[in-house]
Formats: sequence, C-alpha cells, structure tokens
Amino acid sequence: MTSSLATVSYIAATILFILSLGGLSHPETARRGNLFGIIGMTIAVLATVFGPRVTPAGYAWIVGALVIGGSIGLVAAKKVQMTQMPELVALMHSLVGLAACLVGFASYVDTSTVFPTAAEKTIHEMEIYVGILIGAITFSGSVIAFGKLSARISGKPLLLPARHWLNLIGLLVVIWFGREFLNAHSIEAGMTPLIVMTVIALLFGVHMVMAIGGADMPVVVSMLNSYSGWAAAATGFMLSNDLLIVVGALVGSSGAILSYIMCRAMNRNFISVIAGGFGTGGGAPAAGGGAQPAGEVQSISAVETAEMLRDARNVIIVPGYGMAVAQAQHAVYEITKLLRERGVNVRFGIHPVAGRMPGHMNVLLAEAKVPYDIVLEMDEINEDFPDTDVSIVIGANDIVNPAAQDDPASPIAGMPVLEVWKAKTCIVMKRSMASGYAGIDNPLFYKENNRMLFGDAKKMLDEVLAAISGG
Ligand code: TAP
Repeated sequence: MTSSLATVSYIAATILFILSLGGLSHPETARRGNLFGIIGMTIAVLATVFGPRVTPAGYAWIVGALVIGGSIGLVAAKKVQMTQMPELVALMHSLVGLAACLVGFASYVDTSTVFPTAAEKTIHEMEIYVGILIGAITFSGSVIAFGKLSARISGKPLLLPARHWLNLIGLLVVIWFGREFLNAHSIEAGMTPLIVMTVIALLFGVHMVMAIGGADMPVVVSMLNSYSGWAAAATGFMLSNDLLIVVGALVGSSGAILSYIMCRAMNRNFISVIAGGFGTGGGAPAAGGGAQPAGEVQSISAVETAEMLRDARNVIIVPGYGMAVAQAQHAVYEITKLLRERGVNVRFGIHPVAGRMPGHMNVLLAEAKVPYDIVLEMDEINEDFPDTDVSIVIGANDIVNPAAQDDPASPIAGMPVLEVWKAKTCIVMKRSMASGYAGIDNPLFYKENNRMLFGDAKKMLDEVLAAISGG
C-alpha cells in the first residue's frame, strides 16, 4: 500500500470514528454508531498492517499477535456477564496504558530513527517520557479500578497520612528525573531516570485510585477512560501515527466530558474526587457518617404489588444495579407493556450513576425493547413523583437514598437522588436490607409510605407479572 493510500484510509477511519461517537450519543443511533466504529477500526488496522511502515518480515509477528490477542478478546467477550462489563472495560483501559509504556521503552531503545536536529530528538524524548508517564498511571490505576469494581479490593478509600504531600513529592521527583532523562548522553544513562519515573507513575496510579471512595467510582471509570485516550494519543506521538493521535484525543476528550457530566450528576467537584476519600464502600453500613435510620419496615407481597399497579394511573419505575444482576429487564418490559395496555402511564426514571457504568440502565432497557420515549433522565422526571401513584425501585439503593438530601453527615450528602418517596406509595424490590455500593443505610426503607418486596428482582417481577395477567 502506498503512503498516500494509507493517509486516505486514515482520514476515512477518522471520519468514521467521529460519526461513531456521534451515533453513540443516543440509544436509537447507537447500533449504527457501533457499526461505523467497527468499519473504521477495520480500515485503520488494515491500513496500518499493509501500510508503508510494516515490512513483510513483520507479518508473522503481527499475525501471531492478532491470533493470540483476538482469541483472548473473543473468549472474554463471550464469557463476560453484563454485570462484569465495567470491570472488563477497566481491564481494557489498563492494556492501553501498558501498550503506551511498552511502545515508549521500545522507541527509546530503537536506534534506527535518525533525527535531523537535536531539537527533534529532544521533542521525541519528551514524547517518550510523557507517554510512559500517562501510560503507567493509566495501567496501574485501571488495574486497581478493576480490583475495586470486581470487589477483589475493598471499595473503602485508602487515606494515607499526608497523601497530598506524597503526591506532590512524587510530581517533583518526576520533573527532576525528566530533566536528567533529557540531559542523558546515552541510552544507558537515560534508562535509570526513565525507570524511576515509571515506578513513581505506577505507584501514583495505585495511590490515586486506592484513595477514591466507593461512591466516586463512576467518576474514576470515566476518568480512566479519558486517561486511556491520552495514553493512546501519546503512543501516536511516539510512533508519529496521526490516526492514533486523533483517535486518542477523541477518546481522551470525550472521557473528560463524561467525567465532568458524572461529577455534575453527583454534585461533586472533579478535584475533590481526585483528592479522594468520598464514599465509604465495602457493603457494610458506614461507620460514623450519618444518623442510622430507625423504625419499622413494612413488607408487601407480589400479589399486593400487582393489585396496586393495576389500580394506579401513574407509575414510575426506577431501575438500579440489582436489575442488572437479576437480569430482570425483560420481565420489567413485560409488566410495562401489560400496564400500558390497561391505560396506566408507566415511565422510567434513570439516575446518571445507576448501575456500574455510564448508561448501564439505558443499555439494559434498550435490550429489552422498552420504548425510548418513556425512559427519562433524573432531571426530567424528578418533579413528577408527587403526582405519581406508585414508584417501583428495582434493585436500586444509593440513587434513591433520601439521606443525600436530609443528612449533611451522610457520605453521599449533596448527591442528587430520585425522589421516589414523594409518590403516594413507593415499593422497593431487593433481596434484603443490605446496603448498596456506597455501603450506607437507606432511610427510605423505613418511610411510612414505603413497602419492601423482598426477593430476587427477576423472580418477584415474574410473580407480579403472573398476578397482573391473571387478575
Ligand atoms: P446500589 O446502590 O449498588 O444498590 C443495588 C441494590 O440492588 C443493592 O442494595 C442490592 O440489595 C440489590 N440487589 C442486588 N442483587 C439483586 C437481585 N438479584 N435482585 C434484587 N435486588 C438486588 O445500586 P444503584 O442504586 O444502582 O446505585 C449505583 C451505585 O454504584 C452508586 O453508589 C454509584 O456511585 C456506584 N457506581 C456507579 C457506577 C456507574 S458509572 N454507574 C460505577 C461504579 C460505581 P440486596 O443485596 O438486598 O438485594
């Protein structure tokens, strides 16, 4: 392939990636967006493999890597449960970081490139230093995020004494060694500062994500998404690959915008999220933070729930992580369909951080074919709860916790929540009184107009469905 054909292919791939991102912004166009992404990536890979920079001697390596990587990817994609998606995504981000590090070291020891001027050599070395720095932070941070999301590591924030000072000292050491690296006269001499910086960056990545509490994990996921984009862009600079730079920048900036949206949704400031310590996590009620709710919990049966739904005129369904665990979205849709046929106005209220990844609930509801026009964002529906007969919470907890509004000492104080308790009756469907991801108790369960429908969401919804259709 000639270099001009490769350039044209890269431009076509870039356009397809932009169209892909545009498509992914709405559920209705998401499928098309994905298709554009797949075609763009195929063109990009083919143009790179058959492009002017790969010699035929390299084909065996490339085919070997494609077979190994492709098989692992295929098995992982087939095996992964929908609820494990966020961990898989975190793991994928770590690979982008690792690739940036490896490419950085490889291009540093590669002596085949001759730089016409000293300035160009310095710029290349700066790209290597910064590329490895971003790559190493992304790699170790994503591995820890994977551990936290898959509950292999506790969600509790690790708050080392003087942690901000530790980070600052790390930064100064990295800058100092950066100077040493650029002034090094041989590859051997430059290797020591490069390795020291890599170790510090790896430790910083671990420290940064370890310090972030359970409730802030949504921001971390999108932030690492953004970092992985910048790591890819850095790799593009090191390899002088324009496509990688553009695509990396697209991923980096869209991840940054998503982090901002997540922060706003949780009423959090981005800097304080990075500084860490918010949300206790761990699954147990938070120690010290917030008053413990007290009172009687009133339970309800599936048949009684069905009666209430049949008699209601307005119903709002609030799905959460438990709906994903139980894979209850299809049963939810069947009930919705039946109630709508009977003239009940059924709508869905979606919290921006419901579930474990951005858009988690929208994906599940779209999979179950719930019409998009009845799926509303929190801001669009929160005012309608007082005019609602029944609000049903399906496997959600933190996103409907009134303590966020009422208790300034609560670890999630200030986070906007869906005000389900303002409906005439609220029904919470979950298996027990256990806490959600943020690990805090929920006063909603004890409210006078709240009923608990205990059990697995899928099983309970099947029972409710049978009772509605039978009645
Ligand atoms: P959670 O607060 O985690 O609550 C989920 C509830 O579902 C649990 O209390 C659990 O109670 C119940 N549950 C689990 N399995 C169930 C099943 N099979 N059937 C019925 N119920 C089941 O979820 P949420 O309300 O969706 O809030 C999301 C939380 O995750 C927030 O704290 C958010 O910050 C965090 N987070 C979000 C993201 C993103 S990007 N969305 C990423 C990381 C973390 P039982 O055990 O009693 O059943």
